[in-house]
Amino acid sequence: MSTSQLVLDATALTASGIGASGPDATAIAALAEPARRAHDVTLARRATGEIGFFDLPDDRATARACMDYARDLDPAIDTVVVLGIGGSSLGPRALYSALAPPFDQLTPRSPGMPRRLFFPDNIDPVTFAALLERMPLDKTLWNVVTKSGGTAETAAQFLVVADRLEKQLGAERAKRHVVCTTDPGKGALRATATARGYAAFDVPPSVGGRFSVLTAVGLLPAALAGLDVMGLLDGAKRMRDRALVPDLTKNPALLLATLLHHHHTLGRPIHVMMSYVDALYDTADWFRQLWGESLGKNNAGPTPVAAKGATDQHSQLQLFAEGPDDKAYMFLGVDKRGTEIAIPGGALAESQSEYAYLAGHGMGELLDAELVGTMSALTKRSRPVAKLTLSRVSAEALGELIMLLEAATAFSGPLFGCDPFDQPGVEEAKRLAFGALGRPGYDAQRAEMAKAPGPDPAYVL
Ligand code: PA5
Repeated sequence: MSTSQLVLDATALTASGIGASGPDATAIAALAEPARRAHDVTLARRATGEIGFFDLPDDRATARACMDYARDLDPAIDTVVVLGIGGSSLGPRALYSALAPPFDQLTPRSPGMPRRLFFPDNIDPVTFAALLERMPLDKTLWNVVTKSGGTAETAAQFLVVADRLEKQLGAERAKRHVVCTTDPGKGALRATATARGYAAFDVPPSVGGRFSVLTAVGLLPAALAGLDVMGLLDGAKRMRDRALVPDLTKNPALLLATLLHHHHTLGRPIHVMMSYVDALYDTADWFRQLWGESLGKNNAGPTPVAAKGATDQHSQLQLFAEGPDDKAYMFLGVDKRGTEIAIPGGALAESQSEYAYLAGHGMGELLDAELVGTMSALTKRSRPVAKLTLSRVSAEALGELIMLLEAATAFSGPLFGCDPFDQPGVEEAKRLAFGALGRPGYDAQRAEMAKAPGPDPAYVL
């Protein structure tokens, strides 16, 4: 087995790192049994085929199909826009931000180069109109991604784009500029793709949106951007195999889930993921959805927060260090950044004693020092911090991180007493939006909203 490229250091979630604020060895031993039960429940659902995300690293055929599609695509197409929302956008965006070169969208393209990607991720007409204006239709591929096929935001984006494509390029040429990713059998997008002859990829029915990054939802955009999709799966497989072990002391996903849940029960329901690697900030944003939508149920659950180091040291750190002790932290770091910029000495640095100490160090070294400094500022106040360190930002390490966080989320469901794979609150909001828009069949939702209290003039200023 190849070596792991990701290390979870959970010391500062325990008494070894933060004294009486964290569980000691005896308390952790007592957590092993509930952890094992959560593990059993989760793996029993996997065994029935209900939960599919654990098995995605074994599906190399989908990865190959995505790579083949990217290879055979018209080389004149240099841009891909992913039309999707929620898990259908956050996952592929996390992969692109992590593994493509920074500012990749600004790099001039020549035929045959990996494509640049865009993720509009919303339906604000100001943003979307600007995007449409800037995308030459003959050089752009639109990847419509919706597991259900019926999400209003994605449907609206798709209808606008398809109409333009057909009017400007004609129906036959338009087809070559659309590829769909959706349920293999159900939903409006699958029916449309079949009826109109669009290329289409499957999202397995057993994999929900926020767990879908290692399906074609993430792999197709990743392949189009020339990213190492097999490496992602290799890393994910390595972590999956570790996550199958029911022993808390050997399974990083189960350990993280158990300790974060424990801190939640100690009055720390806010879980901050702070990345000291720019490339991983969108992974923290993806995790925000994964953790929040999976565990926020039945009037309970943790509140995830995404933060960036060092940026948010000058924004949220005061709150983190001295505000209420109601948070647990996960810091993301790397052993090797790949690029270092030396901070020069010389006349300018020497002319100011406030600058001189920086000379001879690297920017990455400074960022790493800030991670260490911030972590100790928190732990010396007995605030719990887990550290997740990638050996470097590679596809394999990212695959490990993704699987670790997905498995931790799955194991957390039973610990929090909820089903981490449903999203009744999101579905309800979708139905209410349909009602507000007057969609036939949603009169009850429209009536329900009409009964909601309107603005009270006493409070409208
Ligand atoms: O995790 C989920 O299921 C959701 O966040 C979905 O990803 C989101 O609502 C988009 O759904 P769909 O992919 O069906 O358009």
